[in-house]
Parts: sequence; structure tokens; C-alpha cells
Amino acid sequence: MRVGNEDYQSIWTDSSDPHVVKVIDQRMLPFFFRTKELRSVDDVYEAIDNMTVRGAPLIGAAAAFGIYLATLEMTAATNVRDHIQNAARYLISCRPTAVNLSWAVNYSISKLSENMSPDSLQDQALKNAIEICEREKEYCRQIGVNGLKIIEDISEKKKGEPVNILTHCNAGWLATIDYGTVTAPVYRAHDKGIPLHIWVDETRPRNQGARLTAWELQQYGIPHTIITDNSGGHLMQKKVVDAVFVGSDRTTATGDVANKIGTYLKALAARDNEIPFYALFPSSTFDFSVRKGIDEIEIEERDPEEVIYVSGLDDGEIRQVRICPEGTKALNHAFDITPARLITGLITEKGICGAGEKEIKKMFPNKFK
Ligand code: MRU
Repeated sequence: MRVGNEDYQSIWTDSSDPHVVKVIDQRMLPFFFRTKELRSVDDVYEAIDNMTVRGAPLIGAAAAFGIYLATLEMTAATNVRDHIQNAARYLISCRPTAVNLSWAVNYSISKLSENMSPDSLQDQALKNAIEICEREKEYCRQIGVNGLKIIEDISEKKKGEPVNILTHCNAGWLATIDYGTVTAPVYRAHDKGIPLHIWVDETRPRNQGARLTAWELQQYGIPHTIITDNSGGHLMQKKVVDAVFVGSDRTTATGDVANKIGTYLKALAARDNEIPFYALFPSSTFDFSVRKGIDEIEIEERDPEEVIYVSGLDDGEIRQVRICPEGTKALNHAFDITPARLITGLITEKGICGAGEKEIKKMFPNKFK
């Protein structure tokens, strides 16, 4: 994606020093565009933990680069197996809900062997991380092709009136490697000249919608309006939402979707107002070992301070302000589960299918034993 006059993806290796991994510091957006260098497993852990990088596909890719950086940290005395396994466990422990994290780490280490020379280990680990990035990019591009059909249908029914899509959090190119999941068909529709308008949930407490999705859409020139998280139901009743598009951090074999806290409420309101609700994600977000999201998916609980304070730009600096009485307790679940029965369809690189085990099985037959 283009930022100013340059093309970016959300993670890359430094062209002058391949031992350095670079990312966009998402904590600074939309106020400052800054990149950050990651040089060790600890750097990667910290970047995922403090949300320098976030979004399910991106934290997976970052962790795969973390395994690569782990191979650079080995000395002659290192026990290769223990070293890689420890790095893998450490990185996976960072955030529990998005399955892409463990998927990418496990994929990368499955291609490494303790019999490899240090050089081949490093080469292979770097290859794995780049392969994951390329694959995720291609999946998102394809999600764009598949999701475009939904937008085209709505546009046709509305006789070219702008298609109003409501989205929650940021499932854009910043959260993936490029294109995004929710945004891939949006960008494609815009490129084709289809009039669109996006309702962007601000997405408390970290405001990924207001800060990141709004920034992305603005860069691309797509009309959008940020709304408070509680506005969606009202806008749906007023018939100014044509479809809801959200991402996913983990999708079960039965079609339940774990995504940013508040997604479930949008799905309930969409169902009550007969508005189609789609989850858009690459197949790396499926966890075929899980059947019932609400019972089996661990929901990340983050620091209550994220709820107690809001941050924004003040006099050229990012500052935090407290929004409740001192000493007030806060609870901060980062994700919720939208049950399959509320989801109209799942849009992946393979196509669009219903959110049910039978339909998912038909689309991904090899994933079911
Ligand atoms: O806590 P975050 O910002 O990592 O949460 C991100 C989301 O919930 C996204 O919707 C999800 O990762 C899908 S990104 C394609």
C-alpha cells in the first residue's frame, strides 16, 4: 500500500541489513508515521505485546520473523532444538486469541531441523517468514476478488447509490501484510469506480477503527465516517448500513468467529435488521481443532489501564488522559465470539461459504479428518 510516495507492507526486512526486521509502529498512527527495527526475539515479543504490531495475520508473520531472529542469536554452544522450541513457546505465549500466531510459529519450526548448519537454519527461517508473508498477501488479494462480488451485488440493487459498509476494529493492510481482509474488496470496489461509504466503529478501548482504519481509508481516498461503538444498531435501524464486514482472529470448524470485542453486538443488531454480516479472513485464521468458540477459545484480557485512559494527540504529542474517577475498576476483554448462526457468510481466499461445519468442510475438505 502507498503511504505518501512510497509503497509499504506492514513488515519487511531492511534492504541494507537482512538481520533487521522493520515494522510500522502502529501505536503512533495516525499522528506520526514511524518505523521500528526489530533485532531479537525479545524485540518481536515486545512489539506484539505492546501492539506496535497487531492484527491476526501480522502478529503471525511477525512471530515467524521472530523465529528467524532466534536463529541469528545462536552460538556454537547453543542446543538448537531447545533454543528454537523456547523461542516458539515464548512468542506463542504473547497473545492467546489469534490463532495465526501459533500457526505461523509452528509452520516455521516444522521446516527447521536440528541437523541443519547454522547458515541453513537462518536461511530457511528467513525463507519461512517471507513465504508466510507472500502467502498471506496473496490470500488477502484473493479475499478482495471474492468479496468484491458482494459489494457489486449490493451496488447493483442500489442502482449505483453508495454502498454503506460498517466495519469494526482494523482488518486493513496494517493488520495483515498488505491489502487487508475487510479492506481488500473495499479497495477493489473503489478502484472499479463503485461508490462506497464506510462506517468505521471507533473500537474502544484502543480505537483501532478511529486511528488505523480511518487513516488507511483516508490514504486511499475512500469516503468514511467514524462512529462511536454504540451507533451501529441505530444506523442499521435507520437503514443506512447495507452490510457489515469484520475480520477474525480465530474461526472454528463450525464457523464461530472470535474478533475484536464488540463484534458480537454488531452481529446481533445486523440479524435483527436483516443486514448481511460477513467475516473476511485468510484460511490461516481457521482453527479446525475448535468447535464451540465461546467454550474453547481463550479470550485475551488486557490491562484495565487501556479502559481507564484514552490516548490522543495534544499539542503535537500523544498523551493519555483518565476518563473515570481515580480508583475505578475496569475490565478489558480484547475479543468476543460471534456464533456462526449470526454470520451470513465467511469470505476467504477460497471463496464465500456459509458459516457452518458442512459448508466449511466442503470448501476445506483436507482440513477435516
Ligand atoms: O487487538 P488487535 O488490534 O490485534 O485486534 C485485531 C482484530 O480484531 C482484527 O479484526 C483481526 O485481527 C483481523 S485482522 C485481518
